[in-house]
Amino acid sequence: MDKIKVIGKNVLSGKIYISGSKNSVVSLLPAAILSDEVVIEKVPHISDVENLEEILRYLNVKFSLESGVIHIDSKNMENKPITLEYSSKLRASYYFMGALLSRFKRVEISLPGGCHIGARPMDFHLKGFEQLGAKVTVKDNLYIIEADELKGSKIDLPFPSVGATVNILLASIQADGTTIINNAASEPEIGNLIDFLNSMGAKISGKDSNRLEIKGVKDLSGGMVKVIPDRIEAGTYILAGVMNGDNLEICDVIPEHLTSFFEKLEEMGCNFKIEGNKVITNKSSHLKPVNIETAVYPGFATDLQQPITTLLLQCEGESTVKETIYENRFQNTKYLNEMGANIKVMGDTIKVYGPTPLKGKLVRTSDLRAGAALVLAALSAEGETTITDIKHLLRGYSDLIKKLTNVGAKIWLEDE
Ligand code: EPU
Repeated sequence: MDKIKVIGKNVLSGKIYISGSKNSVVSLLPAAILSDEVVIEKVPHISDVENLEEILRYLNVKFSLESGVIHIDSKNMENKPITLEYSSKLRASYYFMGALLSRFKRVEISLPGGCHIGARPMDFHLKGFEQLGAKVTVKDNLYIIEADELKGSKIDLPFPSVGATVNILLASIQADGTTIINNAASEPEIGNLIDFLNSMGAKISGKDSNRLEIKGVKDLSGGMVKVIPDRIEAGTYILAGVMNGDNLEICDVIPEHLTSFFEKLEEMGCNFKIEGNKVITNKSSHLKPVNIETAVYPGFATDLQQPITTLLLQCEGESTVKETIYENRFQNTKYLNEMGANIKVMGDTIKVYGPTPLKGKLVRTSDLRAGAALVLAALSAEGETTITDIKHLLRGYSDLIKKLTNVGAKIWLEDE
């Protein structure tokens, strides 16, 4: 199952239901070990979840998944070193740093994996642990983080990092005293995690703001949460709809999570309508070029930067995209150019000259959202596109092939 084939230019019509958010569930699963028994609903069918399940089972945590509902029982879990074999399969393996530190006061874990879209250092996470009283030792890419006791602290993040906010939240909820995180990330996925932790008995306030206050508690038990809809998956299918849709309905969306994205679609003149929790999309023409700059939430999400670039190819004139979060998130442009696009990369900015018709080609997925950008391009290209290295895509898009086939796309998996 290494490649996807797509025959482009088919009209997409019907309904696509959005799954639970990847970037939420990958923090909720490590967080689950802070309590005895928890339930997580609306779990997406993605390989990141399977890889976290493997880590949980390795730690002797009982795990069952049925119809998108996970039951986790960690009463008998063991704290074992998480070796590279487990940690390198995804970025979010490093959330076990905060979770295990909180529960056992000690964690031994190798380097995380994830998309190669920039250097992605962990200095804010490690400094945060130290400020809570932990000692961090790094030996040959192995992190040992331990503490006699964790103490509440005031932590000023240099940048509102999603990962550092999650890890510090996890590490601090059972610390002695109160922790303040200033300049915390306020992404909706952090809010989903806070609701989950509070349902276990944690005392976290400041949800949806950049200042979180965590009053340490000693006992956590139970816990239940529903994963919020994946705003990036929703954005991706909305783009498919404005490129190829005939009343394509994207359902189970929280539109407020996509405000900056919708602003850009409106500026371009896209044909879409928001009705409650669904977005109705239609193929749009005579699109105006726009300038986009990625930013932390509620700004334009970096995770939608590569997918929207595919739509910019159809705008009449010159668009620019500035990527401010990651240094290496334009790897999609090489393949889009091979398919007929005219994109120039200039450091942290690209210039897109449109409109350009696209032709099916052999292309490669370098990272998750680059893969989404290529699927979108393939759906609107003339002829057949083969997309290789699709493991990246399967990490983050639940039932991608099924969802697109159901609405009329010609897309299928092939073994290499
Ligand atoms: N940064 C540091 N030091 C740190 C932490 C971050 O310099 O200790 C820098 C990063 O290098 C980056 C910036 O801060 O330049 C933002 O990083 P952040 O920590 O916010 O990102 P992340 O937690 O690694 C999560 C998502 C990403 C998403 C970003 C931004 C998960 C598992 N990943 O990454 O999702 O792009 O937040 O919203 O939640 C994706 O889904 O395709 C994806 C990459």
